[in-house]
Amino acid sequence: MKKQKFIYALAPMAGVTDFAFRKICADFGADMVVTEMISAKAMENNSERTLKLFREESNAIRVCQLFGHEISSLEKVLKNKIFNNFDYIDFNCGCPAPKIVKNGDGSAMMRDIEKAREVISALVKASPKPVSVKFRLGIGGNENYVEFGKMCEECGVSFLTLHARTREQGYSGEVDKTAYKNLINAVKIPVFWSGDIKTKEDVDYAKSIGCAGVMIGRNALGNPEIFSTLKGKPAPYSKKQAIINHLNMLKTYFKTERTLVAYFKKHLMWYVRSSKNATLTKLKILEFTTLKQIENLIDNL
Ligand SMILES: Cc1cc2nc3c(=O)[nH]c(=O)nc-3n(C[C@H](O)[C@H](O)[C@H](O)COP(=O)(O)O)c2cc1C
Repeated sequence: MKKQKFIYALAPMAGVTDFAFRKICADFGADMVVTEMISAKAMENNSERTLKLFREESNAIRVCQLFGHEISSLEKVLKNKIFNNFDYIDFNCGCPAPKIVKNGDGSAMMRDIEKAREVISALVKASPKPVSVKFRLGIGGNENYVEFGKMCEECGVSFLTLHARTREQGYSGEVDKTAYKNLINAVKIPVFWSGDIKTKEDVDYAKSIGCAGVMIGRNALGNPEIFSTLKGKPAPYSKKQAIINHLNMLKTYFKTERTLVAYFKKHLMWYVRSSKNATLTKLKILEFTTLKQIENLIDNL
């Protein structure tokens, strides 16, 4: 990645960062958006559900994220033309979920640096696009993130994203702020900060230690405005309009009303969480079974 302006990115979030939400965050100023993690193994089977995850319409730097550990599988899927629509391919070495780790994927990649080196160098070689890697402090009590980051750099990776928690911490506890500095001091490639970015002070701190950018995850849920707020830029449209756009775009994505409603209820609960009577509204949303109910609620926001 070339040295450029500080980047505000939407972090990858499985089951959350759909193409419409990524586009909306880009409208609000996200310079980079990342798909949710996509299984190389599932891609090999050309599963329609998996290939859909690559839909991308934002005007930001486009990143898709893969996970897997089998070199042959990764090499095979990287031939897919679907990657032409992206600027970077990110490799997930941070997912803490038991079912992912059990298969040797996600944060399990941090268990054995030499094995990870084989996979990541093969990935860089086979990839039609520059590769980035997202990882954690470590797994199983071994905080080897500096060594891991250096290995990625040696493999030809373009940039790194550190979520400074261990696999065992999951999403709780504080991020280790000194870890970002340690990694930045150890490598020459850009390092992104992922973890608990919420305020301008958080961003200023990440800038001050030399981060190339921040990736924002949970604080963007129901809150694409976080990007315009943090950048001090006017919002392109209202929150209500963002909700309408999100829902409308997803109408072409889900095949049935039932699946759309079940999925969108989650986002709607996040969208209303800072509104008046949020608790009551969220209880109402939980009961929704039709699109009409969702649209009526949006009308009255
Ligand atoms: C619901 C959810 C899903 C996530 N899915 C992914 C994922 O698919 N790939 C990934 O690298 N990180 C994933 N993460 C981790 C985030 O990208 C991010 O690193 C982490 O949440 C810390 O940043 P935050 O405090 O800004 O949320 C996920 C996090 C959440 C909360």
